[in-house]
Amino acid sequence: MSDVVNSERIPNNVDLSSDKKLQRALEAWQPKFLDWWKEMGPEGFQEDQIYLRTAVSVDSDGWAQYDFVKMPDYRWGIFMADAIPDRTIGFGDFMGQPAWQQIPGEFRNVLRRLIVTQGDTEPASVEQQRLLGQTCPSMYDLRNLFQVNVEEGRHLWAMVYLLQNHFGRDGREEAEGLLERRSGNPDKPRILGAFNEPCAHWLSFFCFTYFTDRDGKFQLLALSESGFDPLARTTKFMLTEEAHHMFVGESGLTRIIERTLALMKQNKEEDARAEGGIDLPTLQKYVSFWYSVSLDLFGGEISSNAANFFASSLKGRAKEDKYEDHKVLEGTYRMDVPVVSGGTFTGFKSEDVPLRTAMNEVLRDEYVADSQRGVDKWNRAIEKAGFSFRIELPSRRFHRATGIHAGLHFDPKGQPLSADEWEKKKYDWIPSPEDEAYVKSLMQKPICDPKQMANWIAPPPRGIKGMPVDYEYVRHQVR
Ligand SMILES: [Fe+2]
Ligand SMILES: [Fe+2]
Repeated sequence: MSDVVNSERIPNNVDLSSDKKLQRALEAWQPKFLDWWKEMGPEGFQEDQIYLRTAVSVDSDGWAQYDFVKMPDYRWGIFMADAIPDRTIGFGDFMGQPAWQQIPGEFRNVLRRLIVTQGDTEPASVEQQRLLGQTCPSMYDLRNLFQVNVEEGRHLWAMVYLLQNHFGRDGREEAEGLLERRSGNPDKPRILGAFNEPCAHWLSFFCFTYFTDRDGKFQLLALSESGFDPLARTTKFMLTEEAHHMFVGESGLTRIIERTLALMKQNKEEDARAEGGIDLPTLQKYVSFWYSVSLDLFGGEISSNAANFFASSLKGRAKEDKYEDHKVLEGTYRMDVPVVSGGTFTGFKSEDVPLRTAMNEVLRDEYVADSQRGVDKWNRAIEKAGFSFRIELPSRRFHRATGIHAGLHFDPKGQPLSADEWEKKKYDWIPSPEDEAYVKSLMQKPICDPKQMANWIAPPPRGIKGMPVDYEYVRHQVR
């Protein structure tokens, strides 16, 4: 097992002190990261003591420590999963060769792009969520928000370590760029669409952590198969933290639905809005929105980039082990591709796409199935409460901005629509400005009393790390 050094300025298990040049480069980046954190991290709570977990090793039964800490004092460290001795590459053209400890020159640019794109999502989500503390439904939820935020900060560190260690000057420039782009800023936006969308309230936050962090899970699973061993080991450990982010999303949405069902029962018209809750049709619109923008993150259905990533053994499939053929030189993926003639959609044509070229779609399939699991659970709860409403994931053609459906319009069932029909009907399916205003109206101020919970969400069944739900997870100084 690799030794962990926690006494240094940058906690790590990568033997940072043996490479003075790299250590200096990272120590020079550290204050810039902190400046970014103070400017773009959670607003209004930087002086508070928060009950947070901190990664201190990669040991499966004791990798994290829980304690009160001010966020700017959080110990963002660099950790890699333990090396697998004599690991060989598990897929692609280089299958069976020893995993690379250094980057093969010919793949340098592609790999840098992969790492930068992943790295960019980490600070982006912190920026998207920076004002949410001011409208938190409870101290329990506030702490979970900050837990997600500090860990996204650590994920940024993980990617910056790879950039600085393996890409020399380019890597240092990319590391600076990661702190310079800003979510939603038209002049210097974050790289991927969903990470520029506003996340203005807690319903969006829970949808984001359910759907968008889940894209993160599948990207990390695919990268953790990489033939470039440092990337594989880094992303493997990031998955440990990512699981909590999706827990926050899933449990948050489960608790909203639980509360909504209770409010529907107590209202004569079964109207949750009349009781100050989030009605199921509104919740459905946020599900459809965040699911569709997250589907875009997987990239085009037919993608030569995806084929190259796979061929060059840089990015595999999630859990490559479960497949039989790891070279994928044969095989096709059948998909219905929209046919557009003279700017208008004329129908679908079935195409057999070479499987390597369809790797984004293969990964998206896994994501869709994983997303459906929570939806099924919510529908069981709704059914059990005696209501007929069902939450549905829309067709993957719906509301897409990348790939073969981009620029076309489909309803949630995947039926084509003209641009006019879409304009007329879109707010039946995605949140309207009025929906956004309504949801925000429920979340006007933070609930800072640990004994209280906002009206629109049920309390969680249990607290954190054996503590009670009403524990003071954030020692908030009212200033
Ligand atoms: Fe992350
Ligand atoms: Fe995450």
